[in-house]
Amino acid sequence: MKICIVLHSYSGITRGVAEKIRTACGGDLVEVKSRKEYSKISAYTIGCMRARRGEKDPIDPDVIDVTPYDLVVIGTPVWAFRATPAMNGAMAALKGCEGKSAVIFATCGGSPGETLPFMRQALGEKGMNVRGECVITKKDLGTGAKTDELIALVGASGNP
Ligand SMILES: Cc1cc2nc3c(=O)[nH]c(=O)nc-3n(C[C@H](O)[C@H](O)[C@H](O)COP(=O)(O)O)c2cc1C
Repeated sequence: MKICIVLHSYSGITRGVAEKIRTACGGDLVEVKSRKEYSKISAYTIGCMRARRGEKDPIDPDVIDVTPYDLVVIGTPVWAFRATPAMNGAMAALKGCEGKSAVIFATCGGSPGETLPFMRQALGEKGMNVRGECVITKKDLGTGAKTDELIALVGASGNP
């Protein structure tokens, strides 16, 4: 099973989870970067406003071709109860994703809000089949159990 792990991470937590998935399950990591620069202040002002509105940041890479993969794992931090604007950009940038299986996850302080339902919707509109989802809060990171659950979910989601 070929896995592509697409992620955005502002302060490193989502990247850390993505790296654990890759260590356990294999696969390629695609970390998207926003071309907009967010300071700690502008992340909470402009970034949260853009996240609430579902706006898409321009990102690098600007096209994410997942044609060669069997499963796409997509992870985002939560900003203002939504996916980050960079993640919105990443979902729009997915190419070759029609009919592909996906597992989505979000890391957050404790209040994921509508992040995963909105991601499900956006990916469903691109023809993806979201087979599982997981929220990892700051508290969950302490035990690692939730990350293990996510890894098990990824392992189980690749085959029809
Ligand atoms: C601008 C901003 C907005 C945030 N909004 C939320 C939120 O609405 N709910 C929540 O539980 N955590 C929120 N957080 C916390 C992050 O989602 C959490 O720390 C996440 O794990 C960070 O992931 P990262 O290190 O990959 O960027 C916010 C953090 C930032 C910087």
